[in-house]
Amino acid sequence: MIEIHNLSKSFKHSTGQTEILHNISLTIEKGQWYTIIGPSGTGKSTFLNCIAGLLKPTAGEVLYNDINIYQLSEKAKSNYRRHHIGFVFQDFKLLPHYSVLDNVILPFIYDEAKKALYPKAMVLLEQIGIRTELFKRLPEGLSGGEKQRVAIARALLGKPDILICDEPTGNLDIANRNGLLDLLSHCRAQGQTIVMVTHDEDVAKSGDHIYKLIDKQLVKVGTADATFSLDQTTS
Ligand SMILES: Nc1ncnc2c1ncn2[C@@H]1O[C@H](COP(=O)(O)OP(=O)(O)O)[C@@H](O)[C@H]1O
Ligand SMILES: [Mg+2]
Repeated sequence: MIEIHNLSKSFKHSTGQTEILHNISLTIEKGQWYTIIGPSGTGKSTFLNCIAGLLKPTAGEVLYNDINIYQLSEKAKSNYRRHHIGFVFQDFKLLPHYSVLDNVILPFIYDEAKKALYPKAMVLLEQIGIRTELFKRLPEGLSGGEKQRVAIARALLGKPDILICDEPTGNLDIANRNGLLDLLSHCRAQGQTIVMVTHDEDVAKSGDHIYKLIDKQLVKVGTADATFSLDQTTS
């Protein structure tokens, strides 16, 4: 479904450039759940941004069903992303002047059919444990965990083929974390693909395939049915 070929990413700075990811290749199969662990600052968010079409790799390709996402025009790319990719940002990226409900609708705010999405957005918010009295509130009135769940509802709204989540449980208590894992398992059962970065060992073990980002490379460290060690993987 997604083919990542020889992906490298460097960042330029005043004295030169630093390579963060080096020659990473990975095939992401439909309906599978991939988790990525690794110390802070190793490039996990950079990798997710690259595969989501948000950050152009320095070298290599990202193909979605043979479509090279970085060869699309800006407009076509953003359309593709809206309809196929749900992304949960590490820092949520909720817009401060929009209500909770409008933040969930945000990717579709200019769509003709947006009205029909409101009932769906409300159901999703409730499923994810956001009380109805919060729907009209601005993000500043939410706790970190509530913001995180609103960001997750936004990513799920368009029923994306692939859901890319950057540490989506970092602000959640155990009950909400487990609720989210159940919801994601349900998404996977419906054929959605999940790629998730996490620091949480139990969350990492929910994946079908567990990778660690270390020394600019993705290394497979486990599968769902095998035990694996997360030694030195957290920071
Ligand atoms: N836009 C950027 N410009 C320059 N350096 C960046 C940029 N984004 C990330 N980096 C650097 O790349 C490295 C990896 O960052 P990141 O992908 O956020 O790591 P992680 O998510 O694993 O904590 C860090 O050293 C970070 O400072
Ligand atoms: Mg990160």
